[in-house]
Order: sequence, then C-alpha cells, then structure tokens
Amino acid sequence: MKFLYMLFAAIPALAVNITTFTVIGCGGTTHIFPCDGLCHASSNMRAFKVDAGAEHCVTVYSGNACQSGTLQFPTPNSEGECEPIEASQATLSFLCSVDNTCAT
Ligand SMILES: *[C@@H]1O[C@H](CO)[C@@H](O)[C@H](O)[C@H]1NC(C)=O
Repeated sequence: MKFLYMLFAAIPALAVNITTFTVIGCGGTTHIFPCDGLCHASSNMRAFKVDAGAEHCVTVYSGNACQSGTLQFPTPNSEGECEPIEASQATLSFLCSVDNTCAT
C-alpha cells in the first residue's frame, strides 16, 4: 500500500497548459500545448492564456526553434487571463516554463 501511494503521489495531477490564439484578444484559431519548458512552433500566435493556478513564464520568439528575438511574459499566479502579444514581428516559436523561471 505504501508503495502504491508513493507511486501515485509522484504523478502530477494535471499538466498545466497554454492555449495560443491567432487574434489579439484571444480569438481565432486555438492550439493547446503543455507548459513543459520545451520549444513549440507557433506561427501567427497573437495572444495566449495559461491555465489558472500556478506561476509560469512564457517566452515568445521571432525566430524558429526558440532561437532569436525574445519577448517574455511572466504570468505570476495566472488566473487564466488573456495575454496579448504586441510584437512588431511575427512570432514563430515559444516556450512555457514548468515554473516561474523564465528561459534565458
Ligand atoms: C492539459 O491538456 C491535457 C491534454 O489535452 C489534458 O489532459 C489536461 O487535462 C489539461 N490540463 C488542464 C489543467 O486543463
């Protein structure tokens, strides 16, 4: 029993997700990605929402594969609100950190 309890305790309840939108104000086409600290492709991303309840940092890049042109959006105690991306260039990739540490 004790072993089983520890096994379940080690599995995170729910992954926190980020939803991306193609229109500022959180409209248009949506895509859902996990906040896993990994780079995801995001052409035409204009806004996003991070699931409520935790601190995360979203970094948006104008380059492919999270290479160049960073804009960072720390989302402390996110309530799932819409965060617009007022970027002068198109965004091509982003990552959502697993905690409140922003990508460097
Ligand atoms: C995140 O997305 C996954 C896969 O779609 C889903 O199973 C999970 O419930 C989502 N997490 C939250 C907090 O909604």
